[in-house]
Amino acid sequence: MNVYEALLRHSERLENALIIGNGAQFPQDWQAQLKSGNSQILTWDWQTFQAYHNLDNEQRQFAMPQLQIQQLNPAQVILLWPKSKPLGISLVQLIASQTKNCLVVGANDAGGKSIGKACAHLCSNYEKIDSARRCSVWQLELESQPALNWLSMAQSFNHEQQAYLTLPGVFSHGKLDLGTRVLLEHLPAPAHGKVLDLGCGSGVIGLSLKQKQTALELTLADVDAFALRSSELNAMRMGLEAKVLASDGLQQVEGRFDYIISNPPFHQGKDTDYRFAEQLFKQAKQHLVRDGQLWIVANRHLAYEEWAQSHFAQVEILAQQQGFKIICLSQAK
Ligand SMILES: C[S@@+](CC[C@H](N)C(=O)[O-])C[C@H]1O[C@@H](n2cnc3c(N)ncnc32)[C@H](O)[C@@H]1O
Repeated sequence: MNVYEALLRHSERLENALIIGNGAQFPQDWQAQLKSGNSQILTWDWQTFQAYHNLDNEQRQFAMPQLQIQQLNPAQVILLWPKSKPLGISLVQLIASQTKNCLVVGANDAGGKSIGKACAHLCSNYEKIDSARRCSVWQLELESQPALNWLSMAQSFNHEQQAYLTLPGVFSHGKLDLGTRVLLEHLPAPAHGKVLDLGCGSGVIGLSLKQKQTALELTLADVDAFALRSSELNAMRMGLEAKVLASDGLQQVEGRFDYIISNPPFHQGKDTDYRFAEQLFKQAKQHLVRDGQLWIVANRHLAYEEWAQSHFAQVEILAQQQGFKIICLSQAK
């Protein structure tokens, strides 16, 4: 990943640094550099956290960034600019509430060139100190900011008279996704059994089922710490019990389920990415009971049911509506 290569040109800054951000692909010597410089990574992406497996446990943290800067007191804070500009600005605000300067690096095709301008209102001074590997490296001198409360930036949407909160950066921030809505209209309402909501986001799929049938045993899994916290908060607000789990696909999931339900992610950067669904079809058998079912919603143009055929004896399209199809897979081969 180019942002890491751009940072390696400033290796003197990588001593006792706290790096905040996501990005699971880095050059070979990157982790060794962090390890020897006694630097740390704070990421809200489970895949990134796992990729840093060569670091000691004290050097890597999977969490929503909050008060870690104060607690760790690093010599240098480095922010890897996220894809979402509002999230990037909020992160700089958070950093400014706890320290006076930071380095920010972003890919030029993800807003890297205009980081200074985007954060100008939080800075007494800002300067682009490098431009390399199609990335921009910015030094920001920060104006002190009040403490940032992620909850105050949450937005809610309603489904069946229940408000679901979404923290910044979480899918369907403040609005129920159309694909999810179509899926919810067609899902069965099982009275009992184990349900896994995979890629749970706000948790709306699993929690709305559990609200109808509280005997269901619910697991909510996602890679994103903001999504997991949103799900936890929603479960708490609804008074529902659910296991909330950080997992890359089914990797960290244990046990077998009667239902696995997902609105799968399929965008990775600019390109469409089907890996999540492909892996899910392949591995679902190990996590379904014998007559268990996998339910997914997909854009109508995605040929999910064709790939699913090599892994499931029964592949049914149960609805086609508003550009989406609802697929139920059973009898895993
Ligand atoms: C299309 S959204 C669906 C969110 C929620 N279920 C809904 O319907 O509103 C896909 C979700 O999958 C999560 N995700 C992406 N890659 C993942 C992975 N490899 N493993 C688990 N979850 C993933 C994203 O963070 C996101 O919350």
